[in-house]
Amino acid sequence: MSRPLEGKLGIVTGASRGIGAAIAENLASKGCNVVINYTSASSTELATSVASQLSSKHKIRAVPIQADIGTPTGPSALISTARDHFTDPDTKRFQIDIIINNAGIARNALLPSVTIDDFESTYRVNVLGPLLVVQAAQPYLPQDRSGRIVNISSVSSSTGFVTQSVYGGTKAALEAMTRTWARELAENATVNAVNPGPVEGPMYASNTPEFLEGIHGWVLHTPLMKAREGVDSEDVVREAKESGGRPARTTEVAGIVGMLCSEEAGWCTGQVVCANGGMVGSKMVSGERHIMATTTTSTSPAQPPPASTTSTSTDPFDTLLTLEDQFYTEGYNQGLADGAVAGRTEGRQLGLERGFQKFLESGRLQGRTIVWANRLPSNGTTSEGGVVKLPPLPDNARLEKHITTLYALVEAESLSTENTDEAVNDFDDRLRRAQGRAKVIERMGSGPVTR
Ligand SMILES: NC(=O)c1ccc[n+]([C@@H]2O[C@H](COP(=O)([O-])OP(=O)(O)OC[C@H]3O[C@@H](n4cnc5c(N)ncnc54)[C@H](OP(=O)(O)O)[C@@H]3O)[C@@H](O)[C@H]2O)c1
Repeated sequence: MSRPLEGKLGIVTGASRGIGAAIAENLASKGCNVVINYTSASSTELATSVASQLSSKHKIRAVPIQADIGTPTGPSALISTARDHFTDPDTKRFQIDIIINNAGIARNALLPSVTIDDFESTYRVNVLGPLLVVQAAQPYLPQDRSGRIVNISSVSSSTGFVTQSVYGGTKAALEAMTRTWARELAENATVNAVNPGPVEGPMYASNTPEFLEGIHGWVLHTPLMKAREGVDSEDVVREAKESGGRPARTTEVAGIVGMLCSEEAGWCTGQVVCANGGMVGSKMVSGERHIMATTTTSTSPAQPPPASTTSTSTDPFDTLLTLEDQFYTEGYNQGLADGAVAGRTEGRQLGLERGFQKFLESGRLQGRTIVWANRLPSNGTTSEGGVVKLPPLPDNARLEKHITTLYALVEAESLSTENTDEAVNDFDDRLRRAQGRAKVIERMGSGPVTR
């Protein structure tokens, strides 16, 4: 059966051991020929042994190539040596299908102890190295988007772990370059990064106590890092009791890299893909909830996002998480209830205010109607006993009828003050008609008499 990467060529930097060796094995197991890069003379035997094991086990070509990618000429030397080994003798064609920028170093130190030498050498290997490797390889990349470049970053790029001012910065830079290369190399290859957390091996084992103490909470918090008795080895379970959880196996990180190198991953580029058991993904949960809570546009009361199920664990971080959920849900419900009360109160106040204004207008109209009624000739308008009566209105039967109707419309006794839709609508209707009638009366020559 043909293997998915049969006949392709993958260059894996830093593949003499650790994650790099596991990635080389993953690719080789799928039929990919591999370059096993390393730097130290002391690793020559190791790298040679990795290459010969992969060759015989997976029936591919694996070539160890020593090159220090932290030097200005190391990356180009790596690519040209690979070219010497893998150029097709018949077609003279040389193509690099996969590049895994894995080689990296970490020199952890608290801020006062960071040296310029540590800074320069770490940035040279972790940042300049991958840049020069991709630059030297660019002419040999596929032209049909089938290429794959995966940069091995770290959760440290986004977690701010103590003692990793320099290391975390290099990995953030690598992630930034990943996004740029995804665009610049779009016709050649997908470019992604993966961000492991703690991984078994010498790099993790060499960490200082300050560093281990600093990441303890993160480890406890990481969904897939809980060691499982009866599933994980006794050593792993015992060590996890101390450290809070187990580191990743190199094959677990390699599996994700292998996945990104597959043909099926062709629509994924410019991404930093989780290879850390959920260590940094878990923080997104609260962010999502916040967005959900603040952007709801529904007119019916929104449902609170579900709280996590109650944990029976004695882990203090679990308790804190549960508390966070509980406070969040309580706060959300309280906010909803308070909002509803405030809305009702405001609505009622607004209704009262409007109602008051309408009653005022109605009373004013009633007063004017009484004056108009008294000015009707039938009610007598002459001077009597020193009291000056109002000037009479024209003797007009229609005008008299309008005044009578208006009086009936605004007559207070007949108005219902009940707080029902029917009563309010009836009142509004009568007021509207009364206002119209008052205008007609004014136009018929009475002139406004308001005081
Ligand atoms: N281990 C972790 O917990 C962890 C976590 C997150 C991310 N990572 C990242 O994963 C990658 C691999 O880590 P690892 O733990 O597998 O490392 P490792 O066990 O220390 O192996 C490092 C590999 O890189 C090679 N290397 C170092 N400097 C080099 C240089 N200047 N030029 C060429 N090759 C060089 C080493 O070659 P020699 O044998 O010749 O020295 C070795 O093959 C690194 O980028 C690291 O930052 C690791």
